[in-house]
Amino acid sequence: MSRPAPRPASARPSPALVTFAAEVRDGLTHAPQKELPSKYLYDEVGSALFEVITVLPEYGVTRSEERLLTRYATEIVDALPADVSVAELGSGSGRKTRRILEALCRKRPISYSPIEISRTALQLCRRELADIERISIVGYERDYLAGLAEVSRNRASGEQLLVLFLGSTIGNFARLAATRFLRDIRAMLQPGDTLLLGTDLVKPVKTLLAAYDDSIGATAAFNLNLLARVNRELDGNFELAAFEHVARFNPDARSIEMHLRAKTHVEARVGLAGLAVTLEAGETIWTESSHKYHADEIPAIAADAGFTCAQQWVEKEWGFAESLLTAT
Ligand code: TRP
Repeated sequence: MSRPAPRPASARPSPALVTFAAEVRDGLTHAPQKELPSKYLYDEVGSALFEVITVLPEYGVTRSEERLLTRYATEIVDALPADVSVAELGSGSGRKTRRILEALCRKRPISYSPIEISRTALQLCRRELADIERISIVGYERDYLAGLAEVSRNRASGEQLLVLFLGSTIGNFARLAATRFLRDIRAMLQPGDTLLLGTDLVKPVKTLLAAYDDSIGATAAFNLNLLARVNRELDGNFELAAFEHVARFNPDARSIEMHLRAKTHVEARVGLAGLAVTLEAGETIWTESSHKYHADEIPAIAADAGFTCAQQWVEKEWGFAESLLTAT
């Protein structure tokens, strides 16, 4: 995949850029809380910064899930139907997925379809996993549900699907929206298809705050890059130095909320969104929430969405659960 050529000033922006501009306009005019969609955190810079976050001492999420998948890959794979192909929602770098894919490929050749809106992440993942023997990788640069519909439609007859939704990305949905999203996934599946769902578990607030506001400022940079990206791609002029990263715990939602807070009165414009924005000193733009779960909540949520929880594996050192759900 080659990089698109720079756009001449007169050319029409791509459909993706038009959507980005529209979503930024909606978010930054949203009252009372301004917001920006978190999916735009993962451009090339953001994906690289997120890779850094995953190895920070304070961010135990990724290592915990890696320990689980390393320890239980064989057991997980043994619990699956015989003839499966694999689809993954948000492949990231592919490093965690390797454990599952290797265990599957020891039994038989496997087709693996990573679904990602980030082209950078798709490239990283292909590079990371291409050496696995007997794997065939077909990437989908699509939204999760559109991609999954396509993968499900394209499967061979008699083939069952294993959908991987790892890294606790489900936690980035509000609680009701998470159940709704699982229902949407279920609607693309057939009875007997499976979903391996990773969830970060509730833990002390101090631990959570450190995980989302680390001491070297990598998470702050990751969050601020969203505004920098608006500047780069949508002809914005936000002064980044006027903003700071904030992570707060919301006890009612059991979530960590990430915001960008204006340190002073800020006025900015976003050219391609046709937008002028004003923030009062102290006002924030909400960029992401990360909801935390109790392991025993998952079976009920699964049932609500048309799955049964067949098995669950819990990593206690950090607190992370992998749940194997079967479509009913
Ligand atoms: N899915 C990750 C999580 O919720 C994403 C993430 C980690 C994140 N750190 C962040 C998103 C900081 C925004 C800001 O754990």
